[in-house]
Amino acid sequence: MRALTYHSSHEVKVDTVPDPILQEQDDVILKVTATAICGSDLHMYRGKIPTMKSGDILGHEFMGEVVDAGPRVTDLKKGDRVVVPFVIACGSCFFCDRQLFSACETTNPDRGAIMNKKHLRPGAALFGFSHLYGGVPGGQAEYVRVPKANVGPIKIPTALADEQVLFLSDILPTGYQAVLNTRVARGGSLAIFGAGPVGQMAAASAKMLGIDNIFMVDHHQYRLDFACETYGVVPFNFDDGDAADFILQATDGRGVDGVIDAVGFEAKGSKLETVLTDLKLEGSSGKALRQCIAAVRRGGTVSVPGVYAGFIHGFLFGDVFEKGIGFKAGQTHVQQHMPELLKAIEEGRLQPNAIISHRLKLEQAAQGYRMFDKKEDNCRKIVMTP
Ligand SMILES: NC(=O)c1ccc[n+]([C@@H]2O[C@H](COP(=O)([O-])OP(=O)(O)OC[C@H]3O[C@@H](n4cnc5c(N)ncnc54)[C@H](O)[C@@H]3O)[C@@H](O)[C@H]2O)c1
Ligand SMILES: [Zn+2]
Ligand SMILES: [Zn+2]
Repeated sequence: MRALTYHSSHEVKVDTVPDPILQEQDDVILKVTATAICGSDLHMYRGKIPTMKSGDILGHEFMGEVVDAGPRVTDLKKGDRVVVPFVIACGSCFFCDRQLFSACETTNPDRGAIMNKKHLRPGAALFGFSHLYGGVPGGQAEYVRVPKANVGPIKIPTALADEQVLFLSDILPTGYQAVLNTRVARGGSLAIFGAGPVGQMAAASAKMLGIDNIFMVDHHQYRLDFACETYGVVPFNFDDGDAADFILQATDGRGVDGVIDAVGFEAKGSKLETVLTDLKLEGSSGKALRQCIAAVRRGGTVSVPGVYAGFIHGFLFGDVFEKGIGFKAGQTHVQQHMPELLKAIEEGRLQPNAIISHRLKLEQAAQGYRMFDKKEDNCRKIVMTP
C-alpha cells in the first residue's frame, strides 16, 4: 500500500510499504477514506520528537471502512464506516474505568515523555506518534491496523459525509475538552492562545457552550480573521504588542475566567527560549504559557491542550500561587467526548468541517506538510484522500 513515511527532519514521503495485517484478536483493518494533518504531526515533522525512526508511518486523524476484523471484535463488522480516536485505550484498566482514556495504562509499553526517573506507569499509546507512544503505524495511508477496536472507533451514520465527522478523531474533542477544562460557565469569558486547528475547535466548542466573550491570540492574521468571521472572537495579533496586556485592559484589569494554551512547546516570541530549546538546554518555550498565566483572572483556570515536553525555567509559579489559579493539561480523552460531539454535528450545532482550507490526495502529503508547516496559501487544515 501507499503511506506517508517519516525520514528525517522536514523529510517525509509517500512510499510503498507492506499492507497492515490483523495482529491481535480485537484488531480491525481499515481502508482509509479521509485523513488530516495535525499540529502534533508538525512537532514530529520538524524533528522535535526524538524517537522517530526512518520509515515510521505518520497520521493520527483518520477514518475509513472496516475491511477485516479479528474474532474478538464485537461492535464492528466489514463494511462499517468509522472514525478512529488518536488515543489507543483498552477500555477496562483503572484509568479507562474513569473515562481517562489517554491515561490508559495498558497500551503503551514505553514511558511516554515523562522525564523524571520515578517508576510511573505509562499512559496510552497513540497512532503515528513516535516510539515514545508505542511506535504504532499511523493512518496517513491507504490502510491502517486499528488495535482495541471495541473501545475506540465510532460508527458514522450514512447521512454524514467524511469531512463533517473526520475531526472527531482529534482536534474537535481536543478543543472541546480544552474548554471544559477551563470550567468557564455559560456567559463567561475566555482567551484562546493559538489560532491553529485546536484553537479554532476550542472557539467553536465555546460558542456552542454559550461562551460568547472570546479573545484569540496568534500572529497569523488570516487565522485570526477566520475565527473572527466564523466564531466572533476578539482577535489580537501578538506582533502588534503584548497579548496579556491587551486582555487585561479589555477586562478592566481583571483578566478572563479561563485561558486555553493551544500553542504548545514550539511557541514563538522568545528568541532566547527558541535557541535554548534547539540546543536542548530548555525543554519547551514557555512564551505562550507565561502569557496564559498573565491573562487569566485570579481564581481562573489555564487549560493546556498544546503539547509540552520537559522543563521550562521561566515558569512563574509564584504568579500561579498569588493569583490562585488552576491548571489542566494533557492529551485528550477522545473516546469520552466522541458520542456527544457526533450528536452535536448531527443536530447542526457544530460544523467542524468549516476549518478545511485544502483538499489533497495522499500522494501530495509531503507538499501538504510543507504548506501546513509554513502556513503557505493561508493554510488552516488539510484533508487528504488516498
Ligand atoms: N492535547 C491533545 O490531545 C492535542 C491534540 C491535538 C493537538 N495538540 C497540540 O495542540 C497544539 C496546537 O495544534 P494545532 O493543530 O492547532 O497546531 P498549529 O501549529 O497549526 O497551531 C498553533 C498556532 O499557535 C500559534 N502561535 C505560535 N506561538 C504563539 C504564541 N506565542 N502565542 C499565540 N499563538 C502562537 C501559531 O502561529 C499557530 O497558528 C500543538 O502543540 C499540538 O501538538 C494537542
Ligand atoms: Zn493531533
Ligand atoms: Zn485502559
